[in-house]
Amino acid sequence: MSRQKIIYQCQGCGYASPRWLGRCPDCGAWNSFVEEASFTKLKKQDTAAPVILSDVTHSTGERHSTDIKEFDRALGGGVVKGSVVLIGGDPGIGKSTLLLQALKGLTKLGKVLYVSGEESPEQIKIRADRLKVRSDNIILLPETSLEGIISVAQNVAPNAIVIDSIQTIFSLELPSAPGSVGQIRECATKLMFFAKKYGVPLFIIGHVTKEGAIAGPRVLEHIVDTVLYFEGDKGTPFRILRAVKNRFGSTNEIGVFEMQEAGLKEVDNPSQLFLSERPINVPGSVVTASVEGTRPLLVEIQALVSATNYGVPRRTALGVDYNRINLLVAVLDKRLGMHLSGADIFVNVVGGMKIDEPAVDMAIIAAIVFGEVGLSGELRAISQAEVRVREASKFGLKKGLIPAGNLNNLKEQDIELIGAKNVEEALEILFF
Ligand code: TYD
Ligand code: MG
Repeated sequence: MSRQKIIYQCQGCGYASPRWLGRCPDCGAWNSFVEEASFTKLKKQDTAAPVILSDVTHSTGERHSTDIKEFDRALGGGVVKGSVVLIGGDPGIGKSTLLLQALKGLTKLGKVLYVSGEESPEQIKIRADRLKVRSDNIILLPETSLEGIISVAQNVAPNAIVIDSIQTIFSLELPSAPGSVGQIRECATKLMFFAKKYGVPLFIIGHVTKEGAIAGPRVLEHIVDTVLYFEGDKGTPFRILRAVKNRFGSTNEIGVFEMQEAGLKEVDNPSQLFLSERPINVPGSVVTASVEGTRPLLVEIQALVSATNYGVPRRTALGVDYNRINLLVAVLDKRLGMHLSGADIFVNVVGGMKIDEPAVDMAIIAAIVFGEVGLSGELRAISQAEVRVREASKFGLKKGLIPAGNLNNLKEQDIELIGAKNVEEALEILFF
């Protein structure tokens, strides 16, 4: 009898080794190796026939709406047949809620299947009542074995499948525990084959967990077509669905939601929401226009500078890149002679938004402005200035500071625009 080959796999990154290792040579994680059976090699049955590119036909209209505009937007305009969508996020952020609401919209196609390895049908029913989701077309399946799920899915022939969550599903063919890298990959791959074969859209929920504990959904990112991350501060009701990979649409598209008593509600005007509690005439609060995907968004950036109590000053960044803050502080120090080495600096984006574009640099530095700051302190022209300005004037802002390079290309606006060439000039316009 041939022995099954055993390998050891890092639960952080999936690195495989024939021996157990204390430290992963790939990602550097300690004590992360777990015994797994090696992957069964796929046997090639038929060789695919080559085709001429111009002969290939495709149907572009094959998208279905979930009836949730913000969800459709993050997907790139609706659900594509046979696509595999990974939805990652912290536990408790609202993934199950979002998918149950989306499934309700998809019941117009016919039967849909909700596979839950985490909750009993009773628990799901309680949530559905709360969300006022009532449909005879939603089929619940409390099952965790991959083989069981696939056989039920073959019988039910659903028009959409939700797996909640991939960490609870296991294949009987592998000896390792559910949630290990090997199981997650194997289950996701088999489910993907099923989705592609039958043209069923498949949503896979994955918890993003603290590194090391259970394999995160990151190991799946290359298998699936679309990766959406559901994020937001637990303390605030705002939730942002962010596309980080999409074979069927643009990435960086976001959907904005508010968690309410009866589920997630779409936010049509996120700028309004993010600025609703903005303090007026308070130092350290700045409104800036950030462009997320194709949509301009006004967000409030807050900064607090206080004297350092210990020798080393603290820099804290919430919602913006920590290294960017250090860089901007260095620019202020070097180019403007502001000595911040004795000050703790805290920067926060209000509402749990995360921004990672350099166009908000100037806002971090100062007030109602936007502009990319170069290392010498100059303000460089930014992209899509017009949509940003339009969003600002739509919100009712009267005055704005923009990089001088953008001033010429802007048509008449309802908002008074002042151009600045560098940080020094910008701060002078703002404060003197
Ligand atoms: P859930 O969808 O279960 O999160 P996940 O699947 O990502 O773990 O959402 C859990 C949280 O959402 C929970 O703290 C309660 C809250 N919630 C509401 O505020 N309103 C609602 O209508 C629902 C269903 C949940
Ligand atoms: Mg859940």
